[in-house]
Amino acid sequence: MERSKERVVVSGMRPTGRLHLGHYFGVIKNWLRLQEEGGRRFIFVADWHALTTAYAEPEKLRKNTEELMLDWLACGLDPEKNTLFVQSKVKEHAELFLLFGMITPKSWLELNPTYKDLKYNLLRVAELKENFRERAKVLVDEILPRLGLKVEDENLLREILTEELAEALVKALFEGALEADLLKRLNVDKKLLHQIDTYGFLGYPVLQAADILVYKGNAVPVGEDQLPHLELAREIARRFNRLYGETFPEPQPLLTEAPKVVGIDGRKMSKSYQNAIYLSDGPEEVEQKVRRMVTDPQRVRRTDPGRPEVCPVFTLHKLFADEPTLKMIEEDCRSARIGCVQCKRMLAAEINAFLEPIRERRRYYEENRDELWTIFEEGSKKARETASRTLEEVRQKMNLP
Ligand code: TRP
Ligand code: SF4
Repeated sequence: MERSKERVVVSGMRPTGRLHLGHYFGVIKNWLRLQEEGGRRFIFVADWHALTTAYAEPEKLRKNTEELMLDWLACGLDPEKNTLFVQSKVKEHAELFLLFGMITPKSWLELNPTYKDLKYNLLRVAELKENFRERAKVLVDEILPRLGLKVEDENLLREILTEELAEALVKALFEGALEADLLKRLNVDKKLLHQIDTYGFLGYPVLQAADILVYKGNAVPVGEDQLPHLELAREIARRFNRLYGETFPEPQPLLTEAPKVVGIDGRKMSKSYQNAIYLSDGPEEVEQKVRRMVTDPQRVRRTDPGRPEVCPVFTLHKLFADEPTLKMIEEDCRSARIGCVQCKRMLAAEINAFLEPIRERRRYYEENRDELWTIFEEGSKKARETASRTLEEVRQKMNLP
């Protein structure tokens, strides 16, 4: 079997809302670099994946999909250099997903750390565990003396017991073994628990494997958090190849170090923290948000020297300003030659200059939405050509008529 050495990049994004600077520097910038290199690229809006968690609110789906398409083209993703498409328009993903479902052991999915993580996050388990640990500590502290045990290291025992209790709670929560009443007292959103307790959500990485392998993708630009999904895609590919003959490559991650993008409150930029600067924000909005940014907390008066290394404003400057400017800001901050107001004004101007061409392209496609959809329709058609060829091969290998 001839296996092409050509690089085939596959990547997708769930349509969950507008993109912000964190997405740009984390993912998009990487894609823009890749589109100037060799090989083929398939980049798609993962709308089916969005449905694995947001199936109850489909009214947002179309708008979010369009929003993502706009953001991508605005950033300069070139439809000539990439096959840009919408996942649900290429039904072959679903067919391969179904066939992969036949050969994927359930345990691979249940043990998938990303699955567990997502479930953890959605259920706020980390928070719960923390709270529960506090309470368990009190309990253990009370019980231990009464037991009259002779232990060498009481502190260690205390720690172990507290930890074990918290673990047991989380395990019971995961296995659905907690009483409704207890869930309520622990403030766990039961609706959420049911909401993601679906076949589709469990199968998320199987669909992702199908997304990649349906194009025989061998390179997937992803963040660290997606590595377990990719590992699973490789395992599925290996299993398929073993069962039905060499068909799929084992897709490798294209990891690039992405700078940490801080939000206006100094935490990681994220939609859920409401600290994000969006690619579609207008100049005024950017100025306002930057004005509200936290700075070095020890710099109270204008005459106090500042510490750029702990200041989120400076961290953002690093993404936009050139070396000499950065050096100047750093020195002027430390010597209190520059005030935070002025420093922020400079940052807002840098961000706005960066966003201007993005806004301009966005405006164009907002006014030409037909053209926008045509690009993705044509991309989907092109994607289907490759995908249907793979499925023909797959059907033949599995002896399907
Ligand atoms: N799971 C990815 C994310 O949340 C999105 C995704 C879906 C994807 N299918 C993919 C990424 C295939 C790379 C390849 O970011
Ligand atoms: Fe931060 Fe700039 Fe103020 Fe220094 S001058 S503390 S870098 S905002």
